[in-house]
Amino acid sequence: MKKIYKSFKNSPKYSIKWNNYFDIYENLFQKFLKKNIKIVEVGIGDGGSLFMWKNFFGKKAKVIGIELNPDAKKLEKKGFKIFVGDQSSPTFWKNFYKKVGNIDILIDDGGHTNLQQVTTLMESINHIKPGGMILVEDTHTSYMKNKGFKNPSKYSFINFTSSLIEIIHRRNPSLNKNLNFIAKKINSIEYYDSITVINIANKSLKKSKNLENNKRLRSYFDDYRYKTVNISKKNKNKISLNFLTQKISKRSYLYKIYENNVIKKYLKLIKK
Ligand SMILES: C[S@@+](CC[C@H](N)C(=O)[O-])C[C@H]1O[C@@H](n2cnc3c(N)ncnc32)[C@H](O)[C@@H]1O
Repeated sequence: MKKIYKSFKNSPKYSIKWNNYFDIYENLFQKFLKKNIKIVEVGIGDGGSLFMWKNFFGKKAKVIGIELNPDAKKLEKKGFKIFVGDQSSPTFWKNFYKKVGNIDILIDDGGHTNLQQVTTLMESINHIKPGGMILVEDTHTSYMKNKGFKNPSKYSFINFTSSLIEIIHRRNPSLNKNLNFIAKKINSIEYYDSITVINIANKSLKKSKNLENNKRLRSYFDDYRYKTVNISKKNKNKISLNFLTQKISKRSYLYKIYENNVIKKYLKLIKK
């Protein structure tokens, strides 16, 4: 049995998590075990997960909870620092980080609405220590219509993170875009069933550089990416245009139509 799952099962208080989360936790959190870290969980419920984190990360870890329900304060008797507040309030977060300082791991298991998840992420990103992470749980709510989530929508949490995906690619000089604080800060984003992980870089990230192993070995190979193709026969069914017997440049407008049609077919397949 995984250590984290054992900690979950043996917690003295009730906790509720999806069964696929335990492998994810176990893999992601290895480097933090037995370390002097600050871990914050938003959304406490009965408090069972706070005991789980403490047991899993070890004695040196400081486990802090954030909860809107003031009853959670009673868990302070068990050695956890509890902040009562609303994760969708930027003011709450500003005061929180003023008191607590920067943290290593933030786990968002709060209310799971778009506003709560996005605000928590954006107000915390500058307060995660180098090499730390923000782990957002129950991101399937980005696709849930019921229970007030009103998704999928343009403003779902997952759609928001897809903008972050674009921003981390700005580090590539080919895109010729300025690096904003996100591009400098987020090293990578991981997606799992219902969990999104934002990995914070170890140091401020810069534009990436193209490396060649050994210039003397270069043969100046002919790059075939945009070589002209004959789409007349085998692709007849995919492009119904009357110039089909021509050779066509892969850079041409018509080839783009062909490409898009193929991709549309794959999209249709995955959306079933
Ligand atoms: C699913 S429970 C948390 C379960 C707990 N983490 C566990 O593993 O057992 C979600 C909690 O988030 C809290 N919550 C909901 N909206 C919140 C908000 N805006 N700010 C802070 N906490 C919130 C709820 O009161 C509830 O206790």
